[in-house]
Amino acid sequence: MIVVFLGPPGCGKGTQAKRLESSRNWPQVSTGDMLRAAVQQGTRLGNEAKAYMDRGELVPDAVVIGLLEERISRPDCKAGLVLDGFPRTDVQARALDGELKRMGKSVDRAVYFEIPNRQLVERLSGRRTCSKCGTMYHVIGNPSKKNGFCDRCDGPLVQRDDDREEVIMNRLEVYSRQTAPLIQFYSDRGILHRVDATRNVSQVESAIQGIL
Ligand code: AP5
Repeated sequence: MIVVFLGPPGCGKGTQAKRLESSRNWPQVSTGDMLRAAVQQGTRLGNEAKAYMDRGELVPDAVVIGLLEERISRPDCKAGLVLDGFPRTDVQARALDGELKRMGKSVDRAVYFEIPNRQLVERLSGRRTCSKCGTMYHVIGNPSKKNGFCDRCDGPLVQRDDDREEVIMNRLEVYSRQTAPLIQFYSDRGILHRVDATRNVSQVESAIQGIL
């Protein structure tokens, strides 16, 4: 099954994609994670992407489409996958359709995470991530027991460069202008499912399992 997670920055797409990866063994395909890995490795693609990401802008379509196509062609995506943060534009949605069609597949479900902006700013500004294993925390909602360090692997917790308040505001604006129209795109296909993303992580997970 091919599932698209759609929703604004901070709505919980990554958190839920990781849970589905564990429960169903469908890989989380996150273009944001792929781009951050390229930035960290200092590749040419990473250097190009960094300037956009630091401003909260979208990385050009051609760059992310190339990354995505390579990723979903790998054998671990055969049984199913969760697309977390892709597509984000009409061009990306159509490119995804084209690539899946070549593979004899199509998007089965689009899950839209509904949540007001006020809650997103709180979630993103308080997010901390382990720099070693990627476990996510929140300074108020889900703090680590060892201040500043990961409970799982002791790695240092870091704040993402784009989780500063001024960048968050731009990411939300970019989302409503460039990505929100995809809600209609998938609704028109009859495969859009809405989830109340204001509820706690387990409740959101149950709602998604119900949809799938
Ligand atoms: P990306 O990494 O995809 O970021 P995003 O879409 O902005 O989403 P986030 O990862 O910030 O949030 P999320 O919805 O995954 O929430 P999370 O689970 O982490 O993209 C980053 C950048 O890369 C983009 O700005 C762009 O530049 C570039 N990019 C990526 N893909 C691209 C594409 N396709 N095209 C072009 N450019 C692209 O949760 C957030 C916080 O909330 C955490 O602290 C978490 O613990 C907490 N939380 C989660 N769920 C709950 C809950 N139910 N209740 C309470 N707290 C919760």
